[in-house]
Formats: sequence, C-alpha cells, structure tokens
Amino acid sequence: MLELKLDRVSKQYKQKMVVDRLEYTFRTGVYGLLGENGAGKTTLLRMAAGVLKPTAGQILCNQCEIGKLGGAYRMKLGYLPQKFGYYPNFTVWRYMEYLAELKAVPPELVKGRIEQLLGDTGLSGVQSAKIKTLSGGMVRRLGIAQSLLNDPEILILDEPTSGLDPKERIRFRNLLSSLGRGRIVLLSSHIVADIESLADEILIVKAGRLAEAGSLQEILESAEGKVWECTVPPGQAESLNRRVGASSMKQLEDGRVCIRIVSEGRPAEDAVPVSPNLEDVYLYQTMEGGRGV
Ligand SMILES: Nc1ncnc2c1ncn2[C@@H]1O[C@H](COP(=O)(O)OP(=O)(O)OP(=O)(O)O)[C@@H](O)[C@H]1O
Ligand SMILES: [Mg+2]
Repeated sequence: MLELKLDRVSKQYKQKMVVDRLEYTFRTGVYGLLGENGAGKTTLLRMAAGVLKPTAGQILCNQCEIGKLGGAYRMKLGYLPQKFGYYPNFTVWRYMEYLAELKAVPPELVKGRIEQLLGDTGLSGVQSAKIKTLSGGMVRRLGIAQSLLNDPEILILDEPTSGLDPKERIRFRNLLSSLGRGRIVLLSSHIVADIESLADEILIVKAGRLAEAGSLQEILESAEGKVWECTVPPGQAESLNRRVGASSMKQLEDGRVCIRIVSEGRPAEDAVPVSPNLEDVYLYQTMEGGRGV
C-alpha cells in the first residue's frame, strides 16, 4: 500500500520556522490543506513534491527518503505548483506533448491521454491556441491537466481551484472524485467548500504546524459547543461583531440581525449553541489567541 510520511519535517528561512516538525502519514485518499496566507502550505507541498529540501526531518515514500528515490519518485508524482510556469508561445497541445515527453509517458499512450485530459478539463476547444491567449482559469485547468499526464500515484495540487469560476470548480470536483481514487492526493485551497466536498481528511495548518487533522466529522467535533447564534437589533450586532467577531451576519425582514459567532464561551445572554460547519472550525482554529497550536 502506498504511503507518504512526513517525519518531523521542518523548513526554516533565517530565523523563521515556516514548517515546524510536522508529522503525518498520508495513505490513499484525498487530503485537503486549509490555512491562512503564509501558514506554510505551499512550503510543505513543495517539500512533498521534492522540489524543496527540508531543513530538518525527512519525507518518506514507502519507507524510502524521496530525495534518494529521485527520478523514481518524480515518475510517481503529479504536481501543480501555486505559481505554475509554462511556455506562453506553446500551443496547449504542444505543451502537453512536451511535458508527456519529459514525464516519459510511453509514446503510444501520449495522444490518447492528452485528448482525454483536455476533454476532462474542458480544454479540447483550445488545444491549438497559444497558452498566452488563454484566460487565467484556463491556464489553471491546463495546470491540472498536465499534473495528471503520467497517471501519478501521488498528486499534489497547490490551490487547483484558484481562479476557476463556480462551474469549473464543480467540474474540477467531479474530475477529482473520479481521478482521485487509488492515489494520494494532497491539495490546498482557500475555498472551504472545495475542501469540504473533496477531502477525505482535512489538515488545518497554522504557523507551520497542524492545528487539527481528521475527517470532516472529527474536525467538526473539535468546534462543538463553540459556535453560537443569536438574533439581536442592528446596534447590538455591531457591538458584538466588534467585541468577538462574527462569522456571519444576516439581516432579517424585521430589521433584526441573525449573528453567528465562534467563541469559547457564550458571547451574549441569548446566544444558543449551533452545529459547527467547516468554516466555523477554520475560524476557531486560526483565531487570534485561539486554541490552534
Ligand atoms: N524562499 C523563501 N524565503 C523566505 N521566506 C519564505 C520563502 N518562501 C516562503 N517564505 C515564507 O514562508 C511562510 C510560508 O509561506 P507559504 O507560501 O508556504 O504559505 P502558504 O500557506 O502557502 O500561503 P498562501 O495561502 O498565501 O499561499 C511565509 O511567511 C513566507 O513569507
Ligand atoms: Mg500557498
């Protein structure tokens, strides 16, 4: 069985610990990384993809350090970097062909696989267009398509849905739920709904450490009893928002405001506890002075 293990992995830039002794074992399944800007998600994914060396600790694929595996690891891997580089003057088809060669896809499979992937990502219609003429969302989709060229066992996608419109995000979700099976998929996103619907396990990263990890159910339990709602006049809603911060505020027809709050204790006398959703957990875990790590 395929296993990718983070063994006390750290990355330090000067005095700053960007990833701090992370330990986790990934097995077949989809793992979603959530975390604030600068939390260390990209750094972690770059290390997992073997393009950045940890300062300490190691990453093991089936008990073998990935640096030692070298080319053999790259053959197993598909990677979409957050900042995805491409050749603007290549056509979509030529670019895919070029990468298929680099990834040593057997020549007899290349044409069929490119056709399939361009179809899956909705790019068949622009296969002869130069990449520089594509929209941002199309380039992102091309990035997703290229990451799958070698039918990788390990797929690392850094913000695959950023820049995609809602329809394309849904297409991506469906694509991943069929293509993700039987692989280790690590993906990061700021779009909580994407993580919620895609990931079998969710990892909340905070300042280079894991604030929480588990299935959606387990993650939701961590914020049980910390999410509240109350309906109050607008003035009180404003002052509550200033004091404790609202996760959402909804104006009702009668002029009052239904306010949702993530807080350790009851934030207002008439606040009632409600079931947490992933967005609440995310807020709870990344809260200033919150439990997190
Ligand atoms: N090459 C580098 N040199 C110095 N600091 C770096 C370098 N790369 C990243 N960092 C710092 O490491 C921290 C983590 O960055 P990283 O890009 O991993 O975060 P992230 O969670 O992916 O953020 P985002 O959600 O914005 O993509 C940031 O504070 C960043 O400034
Ligand atoms: Mg990032």
